[in-house]
Amino acid sequence: MKAIIITKPGAPEVLKIKEREKPQPKPNEVLIRIKAAGVNRPDVFQRKGNYPAPTNVPQDIPGLEVAGIVGEIGAEVTQWKTGDKVCALLGGGGYAEFAVVDARHCLPVPSNWSFVEAASLPETVFTVWQNVFLRGSLKSGEIFLVHGGSSGIGITAIQLAKAFGAEVYATAGSEEKCKACEDLGAKRSINYKKEDFEEVLKDIGVDVILDMVGGDYILKNIRLLKADGRLVYINAMQGGKAEIDVSDIMKKRLTLTGSTLRNRDASFKAQLSAAIKENVWPVLEAGKFKPVIYKTFKLEDAAAAHQLMESSEHIGKIMLEI
Ligand SMILES: NC(=O)c1ccc[n+]([C@@H]2O[C@H](COP(=O)([O-])OP(=O)(O)OC[C@H]3O[C@@H](n4cnc5c(N)ncnc54)[C@H](OP(=O)(O)O)[C@@H]3O)[C@@H](O)[C@H]2O)c1
Repeated sequence: MKAIIITKPGAPEVLKIKEREKPQPKPNEVLIRIKAAGVNRPDVFQRKGNYPAPTNVPQDIPGLEVAGIVGEIGAEVTQWKTGDKVCALLGGGGYAEFAVVDARHCLPVPSNWSFVEAASLPETVFTVWQNVFLRGSLKSGEIFLVHGGSSGIGITAIQLAKAFGAEVYATAGSEEKCKACEDLGAKRSINYKKEDFEEVLKDIGVDVILDMVGGDYILKNIRLLKADGRLVYINAMQGGKAEIDVSDIMKKRLTLTGSTLRNRDASFKAQLSAAIKENVWPVLEAGKFKPVIYKTFKLEDAAAAHQLMESSEHIGKIMLEI
């Protein structure tokens, strides 16, 4: 099969298309003939050598989410059959013609969604469900702020939070990105290059914040949270260190939490998948969530897809089509 290989840590050009042996499914796995794969920021970190793959997936093929057709099933798999259209969360190996995955980590392609659209879902939906709704316990009627609102994660967080009844605010780095966030359901999106989000939101207060920026956002976030507020970290691109006065946490009874998805065990991801099928898939089927695909590249052009992601010009998802 053809696959994109990280030939050495470095710039996008280290991604090369090569021949690799087609993987064989274990008894609990399915083999997917991949039609589309999502590009995620963690793939860029992996390519640079800063985010090693877990040991049970190909070490040098990036790709955390795919959609395609079930080609083979392992002996113990009962919930899928050959020919089913699925999308799946992978620990790696998605930039390829085939991948094997635990059958429990697959979800059906929603009705009337293309493979490219379906492949844009797993990594962000699993991350947002876990962090905003489980760790952050966002409830209907609460106020939610997501930083990086136009990112793949951001567009998912805005739409799901809105669909579940929250009042949504976002930050993003341009007027165009802010407009996109508002078109997706944010009540107000703040261009952080022109305005201080803390100043804009301080009189409103926020119940749950999803942050991937860190740095000087850490203390601003803590100051913005209302009593019993929750601050959830999924990355800290501007740095993870801050000096925090715990009395601020005590006085407002705040919860500071966060998580990473990729290193969680297979059973945890299976539980998450089942919860997402029950809670999120009906939202997709009801048309209350739309895929936001910024650009789709051919598999062999993965380097160009990474260049685009590193430019941060995109709004929503960057995809590969196989
Ligand atoms: N913990 C987890 O389980 C998990 C899982 C998936 C993703 N993530 C993290 O979630 C984040 C979003 O992932 P994604 O795939 O959606 O990426 P993405 O689409 O590339 O989004 C990243 C966004 O962050 C902003 N940004 C980029 N560099 C920045 C910097 N140095 N400081 C502040 N903002 C910056 C950019 O928007 P602006 O132009 O508006 O600044 C960009 O749109 C990444 O940090 C990723 O590592 C975490």
